[in-house]
Amino acid sequence: MSEFLGMDILHGGQFSRDQLEHIMDTAEDFRRRLETHKSLDLLRGYVMAALFFEPSTRTRLSFETAMHRLGGAVIGFSSAESTSVAKGETLADTIRTVDQYADVIAMRHPAVGSAAEAAAIAEAPVLNGGDGAGQHPTQALLDLYTIRRELGRVDGITLVLCGDLKFGRTVHSGVEIYKHYNVRLIFVAPDALKMPAEVTERLRAAGVHFEETTDLSAALKQADVLYMTRIQKERFADPAEYEKLKGSYILTREMIERINPRLVTLHPLPRVNEIAADVDSHPGAAYFRQAKNGVYTRMALLALVTGRVS
Ligand code: NCD
Repeated sequence: MSEFLGMDILHGGQFSRDQLEHIMDTAEDFRRRLETHKSLDLLRGYVMAALFFEPSTRTRLSFETAMHRLGGAVIGFSSAESTSVAKGETLADTIRTVDQYADVIAMRHPAVGSAAEAAAIAEAPVLNGGDGAGQHPTQALLDLYTIRRELGRVDGITLVLCGDLKFGRTVHSGVEIYKHYNVRLIFVAPDALKMPAEVTERLRAAGVHFEETTDLSAALKQADVLYMTRIQKERFADPAEYEKLKGSYILTREMIERINPRLVTLHPLPRVNEIAADVDSHPGAAYFRQAKNGVYTRMALLALVTGRVS
């Protein structure tokens, strides 16, 4: 699909179903190819810049792993303090500069809209690895890939999204993607952390049916997949408010065995306390497999936007 060449990946809502399927198929193809090859040569000579102005473990390292496994090279930074931002440089100037060095830019920044701002400046395609409480489309794509791999399908499932739906950027991107599938969506959140009206209005306008509740156990009974999320401490203006909400939902092994032993559990990670450690050995606990799937999905995106898929 040449329509991906040079494409910025900014928002979960930017894809058609055909494009989503193509990204998934490409990721699957890379997974298979890596079974027999440690790395591929497709992006030899290419440079990816990883600009992480906000903390990250998986997103940055899996982008970097993806680029290395495609035979490409990586430059970048993992905190703004070590860069000229500390001297007062604007995002625009940083991007304009990095654009002189790199063929593709993966970035994370605390400001909503920062990736779109960068994309408007850079010639190189920009892959949004999280813009504040806005969007995180590459995570949502790897989540979709994980559901497809765990269940063999996406259409027809019931998906429960639980936790911080207000500030959680992965779910904001996710729902924009699931709207292309026949997925029953149940949102579970404390009232203070409900899915933002702007997101639910877009879903309604697109004719997407969803339910909202505060009752995790009731939702779990019906779930094929639970997508658990962390309460986003860093987005709270008032630390006391975070303290009040941080224990809102905690998934335990006992709950899974009692309510829905076939549950598949996803989490973008990092977790704090919202999934008890005893869930990790449950066969449906897919969150570390999900992290691995991030490499295949990001390989697919890097190869597609540079036009170097085969
Ligand atoms: C998520 C993020 O940064 O938005 N993590 C990730 O990219 N895997 C979720 C989170 O930080 O809670």
